[in-house]
Amino acid sequence: MDNVAPRRFSPARRVFFSSIEWICRGLGGRHFYRIYYLTPPRLRVRVEEVVVSGFARELDGFSIVQLTDLHGGPFLRARDLERVIDAANALAPDAIAITGDFLTHRTEEALELAPAFAKLRARKGIFAIFGNHDYRGRREGEIERALAANGVTTLRNASRLLAENCYIAGVEDLEEGKYPDFNKALAGIPAGAAVVLLCHHPAGLEFAAPRGVSLVLSGHTHGTQIRLPIVRNLGPAHEGDRLQSGPTTLIVSHGIGAIGVPLRVGTRAEIVYIKLRAR
Ligand SMILES: [Fe+2]
Ligand SMILES: [Fe+2]
Repeated sequence: MDNVAPRRFSPARRVFFSSIEWICRGLGGRHFYRIYYLTPPRLRVRVEEVVVSGFARELDGFSIVQLTDLHGGPFLRARDLERVIDAANALAPDAIAITGDFLTHRTEEALELAPAFAKLRARKGIFAIFGNHDYRGRREGEIERALAANGVTTLRNASRLLAENCYIAGVEDLEEGKYPDFNKALAGIPAGAAVVLLCHHPAGLEFAAPRGVSLVLSGHTHGTQIRLPIVRNLGPAHEGDRLQSGPTTLIVSHGIGAIGVPLRVGTRAEIVYIKLRAR
């Protein structure tokens, strides 16, 4: 089983951050976050083009919208996503990928968010994976069912045909998922097919590249969320927005939500709009 070293936090640290979050929320942090970060034009639409080998010429221009790290909870609830969902739909994507961290602390935060996704529109489907936060209560099955009831297919070490000779696959989280399994996620995909892999942790590039995956979509880092000395080291390292390893392109989104404090410094909340290009 492929895995990376888990980054688990002590209960004391969680209580500390949770207390700060609820104080910030009490001071109007949730409304501030929605107005300041989740309202266009401050909500960024980042455009990326990726040349994919094995991609049928007729599919040139196939588009995927990526949303990630929503972090339902103190700073974000379903109704705060209205402008985000409108902006995603306005891009008229062929597919939508939601790459994990639906919740911040409790499973209920993800369940409350799920109905908002029923308004998303994509011709070839809406797909999701879980992020490290989503396993907090070990109730991923409930989140998966709530997403399914609202038109979202969760890929848990699994794949689906997206278009001719093009597959979308998803892997369980490398840190907190019980069984992240790249081989299982990619099983049955013919050699030479184009593959878009959803993997919450950017470290998935290391495992995806030797398997010939064309494109990996990740989140998790929040673009560092607060790019200031010392503070930036509290969160996961952000190695870059776009990385290349052999034929594999990794796109790391800065995400939608926030944890700890309802603030972003040096990074904006974003929707990533990816256009796939035939070679
Ligand atoms: Fe996150
Ligand atoms: Fe995460």
